[in-house]
Amino acid sequence: MLNVGIIGYGGMGRFHATELITKESEVNVCGFYDISPVRQELAQTDGYHKYSSYADLLSDPKVDVVLVATPNDFHKKCVQQALLSGKNVICEKPVCLSVADFDELTTLADKKHLRLFVHQNRRWDEDYLILQELFAEQVIGSLLRVESRVQGDHGVPSGWRQEKARGGGMVLDWGVHLLDQIVDLMGCSIKSVYASLSYALGYEVDDGCTAILEFENGKFVEMNVDTTNFIKQSRWYIKGTQGTIMLNDWDMEGAIVRQVAGWNSEEIGAIQAGQGLTRTLAPLSEGILEKRSFPKMSQKQVPSFYQNVIDVTQKNGKMRISYQEVRTVLKIMDAIFVSAEKNQVIQLSLQD
Ligand SMILES: NC(=O)c1ccc[n+]([C@@H]2O[C@H](COP(=O)([O-])OP(=O)(O)OC[C@H]3O[C@@H](n4cnc5c(N)ncnc54)[C@H](O)[C@@H]3O)[C@@H](O)[C@H]2O)c1
Repeated sequence: MLNVGIIGYGGMGRFHATELITKESEVNVCGFYDISPVRQELAQTDGYHKYSSYADLLSDPKVDVVLVATPNDFHKKCVQQALLSGKNVICEKPVCLSVADFDELTTLADKKHLRLFVHQNRRWDEDYLILQELFAEQVIGSLLRVESRVQGDHGVPSGWRQEKARGGGMVLDWGVHLLDQIVDLMGCSIKSVYASLSYALGYEVDDGCTAILEFENGKFVEMNVDTTNFIKQSRWYIKGTQGTIMLNDWDMEGAIVRQVAGWNSEEIGAIQAGQGLTRTLAPLSEGILEKRSFPKMSQKQVPSFYQNVIDVTQKNGKMRISYQEVRTVLKIMDAIFVSAEKNQVIQLSLQD
């Protein structure tokens, strides 16, 4: 059994307890501490034990792992205290606000022979797991370009997410998830980053970001997080040498179009487009392309985030989200801010 003590019973702390952990037969919630009496009361109403302070939670010998689900600016301090108390830690994303802070935390974890897990949970999203399978099977041939985006239409949520010093803004909120998936999917080092940030709604934090990421294999990924889109673009748009994948959203509606026969360029006639003619954009004849709907998840069982925590802490397993991957994501986010400020391509060396 893995016993979890949770600091922060806000939206996500509560989601861990009532949704994620309840699905796990080998994970148990020992109790909560939240700085807000209202949230403490809610946790109690939900049936969880209330710790009187964080120190109280950390001194409970039953707690195997501390889940940090506070706003982003408290992560580093909460993680440090937990590690110093001899507890393994799960920290919500983004684990901290700089690469240097993360290095400090992992050094401390290593010194204490403890683990720091970062809840970059979008690796377990169904759309992403299916894409991984499609990539592995080379369903659309060799990869040409990936576009990954999430878009909303009502700005950055109120509260700490609108404050820069508290780790607000869309890059730190959703960017971290998309970057985590992209780094995992590309499976090679990042080479450069070019980004622009949007401040359209007048917050002190970014309300959107578009980043062009170049990887060592020469492939480019466009990442976009945005909050001013009354019509959303597709969640994923991926081009390969023999096909294209498009997925609209988490509803799993989308398509895979694959080339299944060759064509003769000379035989493609022009079509009228607007006030002109085009051969370049004329459609291919029937039978050259095959269209499939976006597939369902295969029956293959993927161990959950919490199963990975158990695997690592109790069975000497491997961390699904490695320190190196978390560090890379933090480095890319740093580069995004520098690139946007200087309007420059930032070359990345992951050695430093
Ligand atoms: N992985 C995901 O899918 C996902 C989704 C949403 C949020 N998050 C992350 O979860 C964390 C919390 O986000 P949220 O949406 O739950 O925020 P929230 O504002 O809803 O909740 C934060 C909670 O922490 C409490 N808190 C603040 N400071 C504290 C302190 N010093 N000690 C104890 N409690 C304190 C607040 O009272 C509040 O109840 C953030 O890091 C966020 O990025 C992750």
